[in-house]
Amino acid sequence: MNAIERAIVRAGQAGQELRLEGVPTGVEGLDELFFQVEFHDGQPKTLPLGGFPRGAAVHVTGISDTGKSLLAEQFCLAQAARGEGVVFVTVESPAAFVDMALQQRRLAMGVRRDALDHVVLVDAAMHDAVREDLPTFFATVKKAMEEVGARHLVVDSLTGLYEAREMQARAIVRRVFQFVKEHRLTAVLTSQKRSGHEELSAEAAGGFAVSHILDVTLVLAKRTVLSAAQARMWNATLGEIVRFLRIDGSRLCGHDTRTHFLEISREGLLKVGPPLGTGGEGQ
Ligand SMILES: Nc1ncnc2c1ncn2[C@@H]1O[C@H](COP(=O)(O)OP(=O)(O)OP(=O)(O)O)[C@@H](O)[C@H]1O
Ligand SMILES: [Mg+2]
Repeated sequence: MNAIERAIVRAGQAGQELRLEGVPTGVEGLDELFFQVEFHDGQPKTLPLGGFPRGAAVHVTGISDTGKSLLAEQFCLAQAARGEGVVFVTVESPAAFVDMALQQRRLAMGVRRDALDHVVLVDAAMHDAVREDLPTFFATVKKAMEEVGARHLVVDSLTGLYEAREMQARAIVRRVFQFVKEHRLTAVLTSQKRSGHEELSAEAAGGFAVSHILDVTLVLAKRTVLSAAQARMWNATLGEIVRFLRIDGSRLCGHDTRTHFLEISREGLLKVGPPLGTGGEGQ
């Protein structure tokens, strides 16, 4: 079959093996924010999905220190704890440091040590060819996937794959997206926002609109409480940092559209709090 023939598929046949189901996120309060609609006697009924839609490429964006890596680590451990293989590509922090972070998160989440047998790290932080040459990147990830029979991929962060060549951001993200789809992976892909971007927008990658390519976008934000009005509104103290999470969009399923408080526990675990504006502030 040539490329023209391969590109043509019949509706009703192309996606027969796909089923909408949730993949637990590993973040308390996040699984409940995705839902699906079922029809009973022609009547729509909204049901919780219980996590990210399986097969989704999930984009997690935010400025520095908003919790992107914590989310990526918790997602990874949640899959490993269920015996599902994960490839964790670290682009910023060398593998040894990610390993240490995973150990801390594992203890905080109460995940058994042997769950880590289902995780393989790819160190693109210390290996320039893996980070800068896409064919090497995909060959390495494929080999790592075979080691654990991976069903999930984490890349922390995508931004590191196109630093110093932001014009190519969309092309690189599209190739990663195609890889995720081809291998039927569920992926958590982080990206860094510049501090000048509007905090709660999904704009990332220097404005190169990578969110349009990926299926689900989570925006993480933080604000410093600088006025008495903010302190009252967020039930926080002056000078404190308050974090927020919002699902900006999901192509594959319904989702909560409100902005939620995001907390980081003393043990270093992300937890989604109540939505803003429901009187639940500061609970
Ligand atoms: N064990 C911990 N206990 C308390 N707070 C923690 C712990 N670990 C991390 N944090 C807090 O969580 C914040 C978010 O960390 P994280 O590494 O996930 O940020 P990030 O969004 O990935 O940032 P960057 O873009 O710089 O990689 C940290 O800056 C820190 O304030
Ligand atoms: Mg990080």
